[in-house]
Parts: sequence; structure tokens; C-alpha cells
Amino acid sequence: MNTSSQELSVIILSAGQGKRMFSATPKVLHKLAGKPILQHVIDTVLNLPTKKIYIVYGYEGQLLRKKIISNHSSLNWILQSNQNGTGHAIQKVMEKYEGANNDQILILYGDIPLISIKTLSRLLYFHTGFNISLLTAKIDSPYGYGRILRKDGLIVKIIEQDDVSENHKKIREINTGIMVVNKKKLNTWIHQINNNNAKKEFYLTDIVSIAHHSGHVINSMQSKNTFEIFGINNRLQLMHLERFYQKKQAKKLLLNGLSLADHRRFDLRGTLKHGKDIFIDVNVILEGNIIIGDRVKICNGCKLKNVTINNDVIIYPYSIIENTHLDSNSIIGPFAHIHSNSRISKNVNIGNFVEVKNTIFGKNSKAGHLSYLGDANIGKKVNIGAGAITCNFDGKNKNKTIINNDAFIGANSELIAPIIIGSGATVGAGTTVTKNINNGEKIISRIRQFSILKKNNS
Ligand code: UD1
Ligand code: MG
Repeated sequence: MNTSSQELSVIILSAGQGKRMFSATPKVLHKLAGKPILQHVIDTVLNLPTKKIYIVYGYEGQLLRKKIISNHSSLNWILQSNQNGTGHAIQKVMEKYEGANNDQILILYGDIPLISIKTLSRLLYFHTGFNISLLTAKIDSPYGYGRILRKDGLIVKIIEQDDVSENHKKIREINTGIMVVNKKKLNTWIHQINNNNAKKEFYLTDIVSIAHHSGHVINSMQSKNTFEIFGINNRLQLMHLERFYQKKQAKKLLLNGLSLADHRRFDLRGTLKHGKDIFIDVNVILEGNIIIGDRVKICNGCKLKNVTINNDVIIYPYSIIENTHLDSNSIIGPFAHIHSNSRISKNVNIGNFVEVKNTIFGKNSKAGHLSYLGDANIGKKVNIGAGAITCNFDGKNKNKTIINNDAFIGANSELIAPIIIGSGATVGAGTTVTKNINNGEKIISRIRQFSILKKNNS
């Protein structure tokens, strides 16, 4: 397409509820690889030289607008309060459309998330000289899609699933839903459609027979990649597309030198930057932005979200790490939970059933077992005994615990924040610490042991 004389606008139809999802959430907000289906489409479209992007919204519209992220200055939200069909949705856009008659309009469906920029660019290129161009595909199981009816090779009509008769069941060429139409023609044809069909809806696809009857050639291009044009209408289709997407990502990572125990049991719902000689075992989920250095091992069942991991870290099974920076040579887990802007320095050991929240952990420090460390600054070479906890919440506020270098916190101690433990201080096991402790001080607050069996024995 010659964009110098004809400008391009994009319409993304996203007003439907998606009844076949059986959900209170609009279909296009359901997630594929951690991102709303519609967001995939928008992110792709942002790579096109578009003048305006119109998103038709309706069902749970406010929620949709809140969840979708776009910085495109000319994003226009068009409300379709009653979802009377894809044709009706286009009529709503035309009422508000700003632009010239010779604009070209690319129509996309918000429920087709994996359409690629390459295919869209080719479709726009092959549209040159035509008023309407369809992206079609030949697939083995066309059930659910509109079928392309041709006569003497020319497209004459699209027949929707509910209107398909026995004669048409053999047709393998389907309508992907994606098309480019000249603005002036679209505005004319879209007002000629009716709802005399099985669903009593206004079908956008009816403009094809209208165009044919008014003497226009319906141009078409076939997509060879069937996943790219896969429309999501139910949860089974969503799961299939998710697995396809994950397999594709995993293959790319494997070929880039990342070791995965099993691509079928690996999920990346965001972005991953990685170094060399990393091993990721089965059932690991990575979300958000993940950066992993060299020689890192992530064992089975771990979940990581927005995490940076430096070299030579081992994360043992079933650990959950979120919004955290892990420096090199640390050993984490099994069953560790580290989150909320925690920073873990070099050579740290955070072990079994330890929760670390919004905490800075100094170099060479250890919390091997069963602890809660929240809102704390922990210095270097600190040892936190099993069962020790920071009592950071007084019912109203979160308070800080500062544990200085070389401190030893005995097992099962409670540090009542706000509190400062001096460097080299020792807290005896089972102590409830309520006052600050000086450097090098050794404190204990537990009662002496006595036997209740012998009388007169203290
Ligand atoms: C549609 C096409 C079909 C095509 C298939 C490809 C029509 C009539 N049929 O069928 O030919 O093979 O997509 O996946 O277009 N929407 C609105 N307003 C409405 C109705 C729908 O914005 O009133 C939106 C939906 O949110 C969705 C898209 O349009 O994103 C498609 O609607 P859907 O109901 O999924 O159509 P299909 O049955 O898949
Ligand atoms: Mg659909």
C-alpha cells in the first residue's frame, strides 16, 4: 500500500462478552502468556504506520479500558453498548470515524492474538489497487469459522458457521476475520447489511457479497501459519494457543543456549534475558521481567516474577521469588519465599520455609530454616537461627528491624520492631527482644528451666 497518498487506520473489534468462555471477564482480557489477548493485538498494531487505532468495546467496558495499556496518542475507544454483531460494531466506528475517504482501514478482531506484523504488512502490500482484501486460510477443521465461498475462483460470499449448509461443509478455506477495506466503500457497504441470519446479528462478513454484487473483486491472501490466525472463542482454544506459544518460546530459548528439562513443563509469561549454562528444571514459571546471569540453576516447581539473578545462584525446589534482586553465589530454598523489593547480597543462604519481605540481606548471611524476616536490614555475616522472626507489624504500622554485621540471632527469637541489634551482638535462643542491643552485647530473656516433678527445686 502506498501510505503517502492513502493513510492507514486500524479497527480492533473487542466488544463481545465471549459467551463461550462462560466468564464474567470479557474474553479479550483473558490472558495468553500472562498478557491480555487484546494487548497482544494492540502491541502488534503499534508497529504499523497507523494514523488512528479504534478499539470497539462494550461488555465490561470500563474494566477493559483500565486493563489495557497503550501510549498511542491516537487510540480511540468506541462504545458499542449492545453487541449486535461485528457489522454493527463497524457501524459504530463509522459514526465517529475521522479521516479521508481514500483511507485504508485494517479490521482486526481482538480475539486473534498472535497475528504477526509480517502477515499484516504483506496483506497491506497486496491490497494495492483493490477496495477490499481478505486474509483467508485453508485449515482441516473449519468448524466455527466463516467459510469462503468462491465461484470460478472468485470470492463471492462468506457463510457463517450457523448458516453453513450441507453443501458448504466441505469448504476448507475460512475467513480469518482480518481484512483491509477502503474507507468510502466500507462506509457504504456496512449500511447495506441486515440481520437476516441464524444469529439475528449484523455480520461484518456480509459486506463481501455486497461488494461482489456491486462488481468489486474481493482480493485475498492466504495465511500459512494457522496459529497466527487462530481465534479464541473458548477456554480449550485458549489453552491450545497458550501451549503453542510456550513451545515456540521454549524452542527459541533452547536454541539460544538455555537448558530446559522439558519444554512442555515450562512457562514464560513475560520476558527473559539470560546468560550461559543455565539449567531450568520442570514446572518452573517465569513472570514479568526476568534477568538471569551465568551458571544459574533453578530447580523444579519454582515461580519467579520480576527477578534479577546474578551468576552461580542455585534456587532449590518450590521457591517463590518476586520483585527481588539476588546477587551471585547465593543458595535459596527449598520452599523459600522472597518478595517485595528484597535485595539479597552475595553468598547468602536462605533456606527451608524462610519468608523474606522487603528486606536487605548482607553478604555471607544465613537464614537456613523456618523464619520470617520482614522490613529488615540485615548486615554481613549475620546468622539467623531456625524459627527466628521479625515482628514488624504493631497492628497499625510496619516497623523496621536493623541487624548489624556479625550478629547472631538464636533460634526461635522474636525481634519486636522497631529495633536495632548491634554488630557482633548475640541473642540467645527463645528470646523476645524488645529493646535495642548494643554492639557485642549478649542477651537472653528466657526463664530458667526447672522441673515441676521435684518439690523445692528451682
Ligand atoms: C468471526 C467471523 C468469522 C471468522 C471468525 C474468525 C463475523 C460475523 N464472523 O466469527 O467469519 O471466521 O471471526 O475468528 O464477523 N465483537 C464486537 N461486537 C459484536 C460482536 C463481536 O466487537 O457485536 C468482537 C468480539 O469481541 C471479537 C470479534 O468481534 O473480538 C469477533 O467476534 P466473535 O463473536 O468471536 O466472532 P466469531 O464467531 O469468532
Ligand atoms: Mg471469534
